[in-house]
Amino acid sequence: RLGKPLVVAIDGPSGSGKSSVSRETARRLHAAYLDTGAMYRAVTWHCLDTGVDLQEAASVEKASREVDLKISTDPDHELVSVDGTDVTLAIREPSISSAVSAVATTLGARAELIRRQQQIIADSGRRIVAEGRDITTVVAPDAEARILLTASEEARLRRRGIQLGGTQGDAQLQEQVLTRDAKDSTVVNFHEAADGVFTVDSSDLDFEETVEAVLAAVRSAAH
Ligand code: DC
Repeated sequence: RLGKPLVVAIDGPSGSGKSSVSRETARRLHAAYLDTGAMYRAVTWHCLDTGVDLQEAASVEKASREVDLKISTDPDHELVSVDGTDVTLAIREPSISSAVSAVATTLGARAELIRRQQQIIADSGRRIVAEGRDITTVVAPDAEARILLTASEEARLRRRGIQLGGTQGDAQLQEQVLTRDAKDSTVVNFHEAADGVFTVDSSDLDFEETVEAVLAAVRSAAH
């Protein structure tokens, strides 16, 4: 790849627009792109597929070590595979979203995925935008640019098409989103920026404005 090393670490809650903004940022920087949440989802898919009990930490950790997990880092080509099966779409199913916290809160599985993520960053020639919950603090604290992408609870629910004070279905979806964020927060703090991390609040920004704000943060951090 062309260019100087430029690791951009982006953390934030779901619904902050993190994935689409990070992917577009990677394109504009001619960098690779890593969605670490997809790796937690892929391990979850594998555990459900092979009958691994998600409540058994040792089994989940073992599965995370043994699984043949491949993830594309081309921002223009999304592909996640598990033991040769394309799971790109399957890992976005609600059944995975509601089970994934069990993997994300298993510390042994986290250690293994963090190790794999650090390897992917090294293999990219350190020219990559990596996003998740613990990239700025644990996976790549040495990144050239570290950004926390936040959005108000209202904005995050709105982006998922959930109306506040809407139907009973909306109330249920809201409950699911907030419950998952609360569970995720027990192992990683992605609500406050660590020292040296730039905060970009996307609550009142559209997609293009958010990408521009992230690129501006990258330029000022990487100087
Ligand atoms: O961003 P996402 O919804 O695809 O993330 C899936 C799950 O993985 C979510 O429960 C948070 C967790 N996760 C994590 O704990 N650490 C990361 N670096 C990325 C995701």
